[in-house]
Amino acid sequence: MAISLNINGSRRSVEAGDDVPLLWVLRDVLGMTGTKFGCGIAQCGACTVHIDGSPVRSCLLPVGAIGDKAVTTIEGISETPEGARVQKAWLDLEVVQCGYCQSGQIMSAAALLAVTPDPDDDDIDAAMSGNICRCGTYVRIRAAIKQAASDGRA
Ligand code: FES
Ligand code: FES
Repeated sequence: MAISLNINGSRRSVEAGDDVPLLWVLRDVLGMTGTKFGCGIAQCGACTVHIDGSPVRSCLLPVGAIGDKAVTTIEGISETPEGARVQKAWLDLEVVQCGYCQSGQIMSAAALLAVTPDPDDDDIDAAMSGNICRCGTYVRIRAAIKQAASDGRA
């Protein structure tokens, strides 16, 4: 069946069953492969997108449950002020190692800064603990979030 989605500010019509996870619609139907598959059970954070600005694991979100809510993916996050600052900080501090987890990390970090512009370590731990990085880039991720927060105050 045809489902209408608002993705990164554009209206998209996709052919998919209601219960198909959003992640598969993004990657396999729309060819938006920036959002990654890691575990498929909402345990790693690689598939994180925003639904109306809040971070959500797209691997378990049925596409039929989204309705008119705004979907933002890694392909669109630079259009938000927080997303632009996070991506700049990620590049400045060379956060990325293999890169596989990083779309999800950036989406969670941008969502954090949107609601908590000046996060402390506990805020960062709470927001980012569900995003796993097998390369262990956690120290640089924390530093980059703090730089992005600082840039927001400048
Ligand atoms: S793939 Fe969705 S949380 Fe791991
Ligand atoms: S950069 Fe390799 S898994 Fe995070």
